[in-house]
Amino acid sequence: MKVYEWSQNYSVGVVILDEHHKELFKILNQLFNLMDESADDDPILKVIDNLLNYTHYHFAEEEKIMAKIDYPELEEHKILHKEIIDQLNDFAKEAKDGMAIFVAIKIATVGIEWLKNHILSVDHKYYNYMKKLGIDN
Ligand SMILES: [Fe+2]
Repeated sequence: MKVYEWSQNYSVGVVILDEHHKELFKILNQLFNLMDESADDDPILKVIDNLLNYTHYHFAEEEKIMAKIDYPELEEHKILHKEIIDQLNDFAKEAKDGMAIFVAIKIATVGIEWLKNHILSVDHKYYNYMKKLGIDN
């Protein structure tokens, strides 16, 4: 079952970053599906780990692109990324301490909200900046 799906509204105008965002939706959907299937900690911990690693990778790549285009709000954007990573790290630690299913519910719910809000409010700022300057990707 697909709970949440990427749609064109979420496009940030950079194909590779759109692909990353789609992957993040996919991982969060996996988490929702796993929670429906069983309450085993192991597969849940694996998906949480994957979410953390992929989010790290995606933020680093996004920051590289923002640096490349001399995006003026890069530093503020990096702080927001760091807040998300810190929160995910806290959740991941909590999940490893046991009862991962309950943490998974929090991660999936909070995760999907930040993903949607972050793309639409924060990422769309660099998208608009690029559009204004006519930067093509
Ligand atoms: Fe971002």
